[in-house]
Amino acid sequence: MQRVTLVDVFKHRITQKYLQRSGIHHAVTVAGHAFDLALKEKVDPDLATKAALLHDMGHYEWYRDGKWDYEEYRKHDIHAIKGAERAHKLLIRLGEDRLVAKEVSLAVLLHTDSYLPFELEGKRTKLQEVVRKADEIDEQPLGMHHYKKMDKSVAIQLLNELDQKVEVILDDQV
Ligand SMILES: [Fe+2]
Repeated sequence: MQRVTLVDVFKHRITQKYLQRSGIHHAVTVAGHAFDLALKEKVDPDLATKAALLHDMGHYEWYRDGKWDYEEYRKHDIHAIKGAERAHKLLIRLGEDRLVAKEVSLAVLLHTDSYLPFELEGKRTKLQEVVRKADEIDEQPLGMHHYKKMDKSVAIQLLNELDQKVEVILDDQV
């Protein structure tokens, strides 16, 4: 089966629709960090980069009266749940392997515990921890990392480079 690439994932209309809210810059940057961490932790870089790229696609309602209300947002936040569902649906539509889609979706669901009534520390798998860490590296106070800009063409170029690096690793494992 041919690999579903990061560029395939990025170009899909579902991704385009939902990644705008949390920011393309953040998504692509976290995917890059996830690749580096995956190599270090001996985690599948294909799963890690896909989960990282999609980890915030569940974000919604950033603004209130033209301004983003962080407190209000945190109170009602279920972005990881929505993101996990969207990521799964998207990957299945792209023809992704069902087990990969499930693993990626779970890593999206558990990339943060900020919306949960308990902590996940020490309970994540290596893949889930890689995605959490990759996100943390790019985080800025008050969610400012979501406002950094990146052109779609630059994002595609960077993801294409990342795809090539992932494929080199996957080829080596065969
Ligand atoms: Fe994030």
